Amino acid sequence: MPVTVRSFAKINLGLYIGPPRADGFHDLRTVYQTIALHDVIRVRVVRGTGIAITCADRRVPCDASNTCYRMAERVMEELDASGRVEIEIEKRLPVQGGLGAGSSNAIATLIGMERALKKRMPQARRLRVAAVVGSDLPLFLVGGTVLGVGRGEEVYPMADFPATPIVVVTPEVGVSTPRAFADWDQLTASGVSDRLLEVGRAMSAWLVSPNTGASARGRSRDGSLLPDLVRTGIENDFERVVFPQYPELRDMKGALERAGAVYASLSGSGATLYGLFQSRAAAARAENRLRKQGLRALATTTLTRSQYWKKVLVAGR
Ligand code: C5P
Repeated sequence: MPVTVRSFAKINLGLYIGPPRADGFHDLRTVYQTIALHDVIRVRVVRGTGIAITCADRRVPCDASNTCYRMAERVMEELDASGRVEIEIEKRLPVQGGLGAGSSNAIATLIGMERALKKRMPQARRLRVAAVVGSDLPLFLVGGTVLGVGRGEEVYPMADFPATPIVVVTPEVGVSTPRAFADWDQLTASGVSDRLLEVGRAMSAWLVSPNTGASARGRSRDGSLLPDLVRTGIENDFERVVFPQYPELRDMKGALERAGAVYASLSGSGATLYGLFQSRAAAARAENRLRKQGLRALATTTLTRSQYWKKVLVAGR
């Protein structure tokens, strides 16, 4: 029997990009939040050699360029294991969607392989392996509400936001993340050097404010939303380069706001947009309304860290 793993998606609650670094990456400040939408990954390790990936979705490469492949290679090496790794990807999340699906699939592969091989790496080693495969992977080893710094790979668990209803809109287009970063460099060629420091200070102030973060154990006053973070005026820098190229995405953000979102934003470099809602009923109404406008909208919820870890492994498989 294969090990079955739910590979959850993430959204970014604010994302700030610094200047390019010597290694070509960009320093970031972001708050990642895991959500309930997911792919399903089935992993087995059988006799033989090699890594085989299968996926019914043709947009997903099944060769060595797949992040799951790169992860499987490293895990076999790190765990000093032998055998043939078979990975089946049941794709439900958008490809190049800004929801971290490819990254999450790779972490699901790691979790599935550890279970299949009955061997585990210490968490610090898992985080190192994850960061080598991609900047957006380590967050999925934490889950819930996660502060991301460095190139996004340096992750710190934050006091969880309570599970919050959201609506996700998945457009047909896919956005290339490297291209979005390059466009950001062009836009900001005149310099944004102090910006991340300012953002860091604002986040720090927010984290110690009486109603949020460490002091409130993630509970907002009404217990249902994350209004304090939203009130600080979080932004996603990628909107400034992605919206001019895909004006329809700006319109979709507007549609989410008109459908009642307390806050709406692009996730990562897009093209997925999301809105936060006051209640599940409000999210369901918005989903309905957006679908009538011809948009692919899905009402779901954010996942706290404990919900995430409770649901990652599909029981009995
Ligand atoms: O780390 P990952 O493989 O996801 O990054 C893909 C590409 O996105 C990198 O090669 C780089 O061009 C860009 N990137 C960046 N700064 C980051 C993360 C990614 O410039 N913090």
